[in-house]
Amino acid sequence: MHVKFVVAAEALFAGYALAVPTATQQTKRQTGVEEYIASESPIAYQGVLNNIGPDGSGAQGAAADFYTWTRDSGLVFKELGDAFIAGDAALEVHLQNYVTAQAELQKVSNPSGDLETGGLGEPKFHVDMTAFTEEWGRPQSDGPALRAIALITYANHLIGSGQTEQAQNIWPLVQNDIAYVTEWWNKTTFDLWEEVEGSSFFTAASQHRALIEANALAAALGQTCEGCEEQASQVLCFVQDFWTGSAVNSNINTQGNNRAGLDANSFVSIIHTFDPEAPCDDVTFQPCSARSLANHKAVVDSFREGYGVNQGIEQGVGVAVGRYIEDVYMGGNPWYLCTAAAAEILYDALFQWAKIGTLSITDVSLPFFTDIYESAAVGDYAADSEEYTAITAAVKEYADSFIGVLQKYTPKDGSLAEQFGRDDGTPKSAAHLTWSYASFLTMIARRGGIVPPTWGAATGNTLPDQCSGASGKGNYAGPATVSWPSA
Ligand SMILES: *[C@@H]1O[C@H](CO)[C@@H](O)[C@H](O)[C@H]1NC(C)=O
Repeated sequence: MHVKFVVAAEALFAGYALAVPTATQQTKRQTGVEEYIASESPIAYQGVLNNIGPDGSGAQGAAADFYTWTRDSGLVFKELGDAFIAGDAALEVHLQNYVTAQAELQKVSNPSGDLETGGLGEPKFHVDMTAFTEEWGRPQSDGPALRAIALITYANHLIGSGQTEQAQNIWPLVQNDIAYVTEWWNKTTFDLWEEVEGSSFFTAASQHRALIEANALAAALGQTCEGCEEQASQVLCFVQDFWTGSAVNSNINTQGNNRAGLDANSFVSIIHTFDPEAPCDDVTFQPCSARSLANHKAVVDSFREGYGVNQGIEQGVGVAVGRYIEDVYMGGNPWYLCTAAAAEILYDALFQWAKIGTLSITDVSLPFFTDIYESAAVGDYAADSEEYTAITAAVKEYADSFIGVLQKYTPKDGSLAEQFGRDDGTPKSAAHLTWSYASFLTMIARRGGIVPPTWGAATGNTLPDQCSGASGKGNYAGPATVSWPSA
């Protein structure tokens, strides 16, 4: 995946920089990891900046083969929104530029259709916001959901700071993306790796989240989110289909493929639907849920045998993680962002246990725990118990060991490509991948206890009596140009 994002920045991710621990917090054993975090963080921060264009309409003057993906932009601007809310005021102009650009982009007819006929599901555009007309895996229905989530993050901030009128300007964009979600969630799509046509766990989970958040935003703005509540619970019902009983099968409803289903698709999904206020809920696959942890073990273990770089590493110690073990793209290698996601899930879980005050081990999650803490047993452990302290320390150490893997395979100059060789660990494929840098920064933020705002998972997890694939009829309208009061 080659990623170029719309919108410029000077001081992105300052919020994340806050999460870098000081040298005095280091223990001897972790010194290597702490040093790596300290040296890599500014490089990753700059790495994100370098791949973001100079203004809201994209990289003006950039070569014509630069693209902007709706998914990748949505994910990054969600993270920038979080960083802005966490205190990086310089980011606001870039969020505003993103909103303005999306109001134009939604109107661009493309091979997936126009605004009302599926065009929002188009995966990528040229950075000058013209349509990309060559053959590609279309549609990719995660894009509108992820863009809605990014837009809502900023809109919620505006409401919270008394700028409701500005938030009203964002609503029509959200409404379009949500209209697409309600209309298209029960149709097949290409997955986030742009390869498999079917139903993707990441897509469905993102759509559920978008519907929940859009419904709440509509209420706050006095708008109506047509069918959002019913559709949200139906999408969540469908999300349950991806659970096999022991792991997530990331791609279902496919026309046959050769994969077992264990896929970092689920890791990326789980970190992006992490809700710091939620309990360890299985239904929404929260990071600390039994399902998430069982899946963590299953996915990580699927990479232990096949990669040369993982040979000789014991069970319970972090390894290099790729997209899925059957991957053949560029020879099928570990990815930096997948390995970072393995760590991030565990930092999220640690945050949730601390907040809840209890860590529960169930039959489903027990194998995950016995790998890292031999005497682990099914039960509930209160935060003031010795077991809780020992088990959470083991989880932290395990999470840090994935950072150790990243450290080992980051070249001296700190650059993060897309992949590193399965046998020799050398960087491979797209150099300076924005998503690799961004994934490093969010992992470090979560490790430092910096978490995004709640998205309502705790109350948005009701299932209907029966699953139904009945989708809604979207209500689209060409958004007006969005402008902002000059600062
Ligand atoms: C549509 O929804 C039904 C009910 O949840 C589900 O069984 C089916 O797999 C879904 N199909 C697609 C393509 O999303």
